[in-house]
Amino acid sequence: MAKQFKKTVIAIDGPAGSGKSTVSKLVAKRLGLLYIDTGAMYRALTLKAMRSGADLEDEGGLVELARSTDIELGCKDEIAVVLLDGENVAGLIRTADLTNKVKYIARVPGVRREMVRMQRCMGEKSGAVMEGRDITTVVFPDADYKFYLDADPEERARRRFKELKDAGSSVTLEEIIKDVVARDESDMRRSVGALKVADDAIVIDTTDLSIDGVVNEIMKKISQA
Ligand code: CDP
Repeated sequence: MAKQFKKTVIAIDGPAGSGKSTVSKLVAKRLGLLYIDTGAMYRALTLKAMRSGADLEDEGGLVELARSTDIELGCKDEIAVVLLDGENVAGLIRTADLTNKVKYIARVPGVRREMVRMQRCMGEKSGAVMEGRDITTVVFPDADYKFYLDADPEERARRRFKELKDAGSSVTLEEIIKDVVARDESDMRRSVGALKVADDAIVIDTTDLSIDGVVNEIMKKISQA
């Protein structure tokens, strides 16, 4: 299986809570491909901007920051590693405050150009299952397989709520619903790299599907193609 899929690019997009990360990781494992979480890259750059006190409205400054930043993704003992200029920041990039600030970074065309360049470089080398918002439309519009995962906003919020609760957060479901809807808005409305369904992407509604159900659906489509 691993050999057959060498250099294959599987692009997966979708909104927050659609199950992209969990599903992409499992598909990558089954096919022996690298898993690339592009959201972690935008999150890591946001962390650097916050730490350095960068003006989040200064697009030129943010582009400079992106150009002088090295981001590498990896995995150690099955746990994600996100190297920001060599420091593993995987445990620091999922706070609510940071999540709310990613939009300032993700809307800047020059920043996205840098990210897309790095992402293409990673994917082309060995193939990958790459997930995000603009993978099927901008990063790899000619990917071997393209999927768009979706689910009702309330169900997506419930999934996020459970994740955060399990991690010890005291956040309420209402707060999460508000966050998910606001993030959908900014991800779908920005002028570059907006989240949308590519014409030739296979859309999977995951609202009533288990994780395994979604993985099986993707594997079925890949084997039929
Ligand atoms: O895991 P979750 O769906 O909450 O978000 P994520 O994939 O970690 O992405 C966080 C944010 O980064 C998104 O809300 C987008 O604004 C941005 N992002 C992006 O602009 N382009 C991508 N390819 C991936 C993420």
